[in-house]
Amino acid sequence: MSTKLSTISVLSLSLLGCSLLASAAHGADGDWKRGRVYYQRVCTACHKAITGAPVAPNSRTIADWTAYLNADKHAKGTESLKKYVSKEYRASIKATNKAAEKYADIPDEQLLNDVKAFMLKGAKDGDSPASCS
Ligand code: HEC
Repeated sequence: MSTKLSTISVLSLSLLGCSLLASAAHGADGDWKRGRVYYQRVCTACHKAITGAPVAPNSRTIADWTAYLNADKHAKGTESLKKYVSKEYRASIKATNKAAEKYADIPDEQLLNDVKAFMLKGAKDGDSPASCS
């Protein structure tokens, strides 16, 4: 029975667009669940729209993502990633993006930590490697 139940929960997570292998671990100081929603609904939505492909968290290691996030160079180094977690950006898309609307008032640093927690948790060598499809 429990096997059946966990299969169902993995399936329902996959339906969101990113599959996470079941794990109860938490990211360092961010809320990875909120980070996951934001990553899928805002980050991935744009990646799919612009490049036709998502950027899977499990495509890189924890060390890679940590260096990437610290460098804050997004889209082949052309801009800051922080821009896309900012309140200003959320306000600019919230009319058409439910996640941006829902998290409109979360402080920028907090939301960045949440996204970071999800990316590290979902890394190739993270607690729950996550692939987006
Ligand atoms: C408005 C569109 C848009 C949004 C929103 C967006 N990205 Fe991107 N992202 C891009 C583009 C464009 C690229 C470059 C794709 C390419 O040409 O390879 C990219 C590339 C990336 C890459 C691959 C490495 C790099 O920087 O080139 C990562 C990782 C990434 N984005 C993470 C994120 C995260 C995390 C968020 C959300 C906080 C996010 N992106 C939000 C457009 C976006």
